[in-house]
Formats: sequence, C-alpha cells, structure tokens
Amino acid sequence: MALSHLYLIFVFLVLPYKAISTSHSHTNGLKSLHFSLFQQETINKTGYIIVNGVAGPGVTQTTTPFGTLFVFQDPLTITPNFTSQVVGTAEGTSITSGLDGLQSISIAKLTLNMKRHKGSISVVGGTHNIKPSDHPIVGGTGDFLFVQGYLTSSPVNLTGLTVTYRIEFHLFWPPYANFR
Ligand SMILES: *[C@@H]1O[C@H](CO)[C@@H](O)[C@H](O)[C@H]1NC(C)=O
Ligand SMILES: *[C@@H]1O[C@H](CO)[C@@H](O)[C@H](O)[C@H]1NC(C)=O
Ligand SMILES: *[C@@H]1O[C@H](CO)[C@@H](O)[C@H](O)[C@H]1NC(C)=O
Repeated sequence: MALSHLYLIFVFLVLPYKAISTSHSHTNGLKSLHFSLFQQETINKTGYIIVNGVAGPGVTQTTTPFGTLFVFQDPLTITPNFTSQVVGTAEGTSITSGLDGLQSISIAKLTLNMKRHKGSISVVGGTHNIKPSDHPIVGGTGDFLFVQGYLTSSPVNLTGLTVTYRIEFHLFWPPYANFR
C-alpha cells in the first residue's frame, strides 16, 4: 500500500522524522493521539499484483494499469530503517481506479502492538501515487474502538527492494468511547 504507491523507484525523498513521537491531549475530556510509523513494502514479498489491469498506462515507476488489484501485508516500524523495531502490520488491498494509472482506492487494516496501545485501525480512501494521501479512519478495535480521524501516507525512501512510506496517525476518540 502506500496505502499503495507502487513502483515509484526513481523518486528519492528523505523526510525529517521523529521516531514514534506521540502527543496526547485531553481537551474537554476528549482524547486524541498523534504519531508516525513507517510502512515497509517489498514487491513480490510483502506486496503482490494479484490481478493485472486492463487499460491505460502500463506498470511503470509511477503508474499501474486501470483495474490492477494489489494486495499487501507490510510491517510497520518505528523508524524509516526497515531493520528497526516492528510494532505493527498493515494489511490491505488497492485497486487502480484512475484511468491515468496514478490513483487507486485503498482499503486497509493496521494492527498495532505498541506498549500503551494495542488493537487495529481500519481505513479506506483514495491514494495518489506521487503525492501524500489522507485516508479517513472508519473505525477500530481494542484500544482503538470507536476511533475517528485520518492517516496521511507519504513516500520516504523509494530506492531499493524495500520501499518505505511514512504513516502519520491523527486519532480522535468521541466522548462515548469513554463509556465502554
Ligand atoms: C514480481 O513478480 C512478477 C511475476 O512473477 C514479475 O513479472 C515482476 O517483474 C516482479 N517484480 C519485481 C520488482 O521483482
Ligand atoms: C539501519 O540499521 C542497521 C542496523 O542498526 C544499520 O546497520 C544501518 O546502517 C541502518 N541504515 C541506515 C540507512 O541508517
Ligand atoms: C533507502 O533504502 C536503500 C535500500 O534499502 C538504502 O540502501 C538506503 O540507505 C536508504 N536510505 C536511507 C536514507 O535510509
């Protein structure tokens, strides 16, 4: 996924990062949480094209044909280095839905096993292959039950066999989440 920017191998971006920096706030009794993790995707190892697309541009560094179905199960690490500690998994699928081959619809479940927060977050939304993309959160389980907000996915390191995306989590709990 990016939640899946595929094959953007020629771009090389290094964004500043803070390892698993979290911030909490409890304004008016409402809880929110902001932090970043890094999604590590290896083509033909943690992510595969399952169905080939039918129209538009071919498989290139920035495009996949319209209708391409891609499925992934990628580790989530605490720094951009793929050897850093794994604290979760991103499982999902993306389908190329732009006739320009640059845009897709992504569905994903991110399972997190962090010291103070365990559970899953489900997202759905549009992904653009060459720009940061916001993905609305549709819900969660465990410590993320009832969670709202969005994730922002941006390319970090697209060289090499394993490509890296920064996933910024912007989580907000509604008032009734306190009463479960
Ligand atoms: C992934 O596997 C497919 C099918 O075997 C192959 O066509 C493609 O070149 C492989 N891609 C990479 C980056 O290894
Ligand atoms: C990633 O981490 C490994 C092990 O700590 C280290 O040897 C390597 O230099 C790191 N790579 C980068 C690009 O920082
Ligand atoms: C980007 O990934 C490549 C291939 O894994 C690695 O050699 C390089 O050190 C990485 N760059 C940074 C800044 O982490």
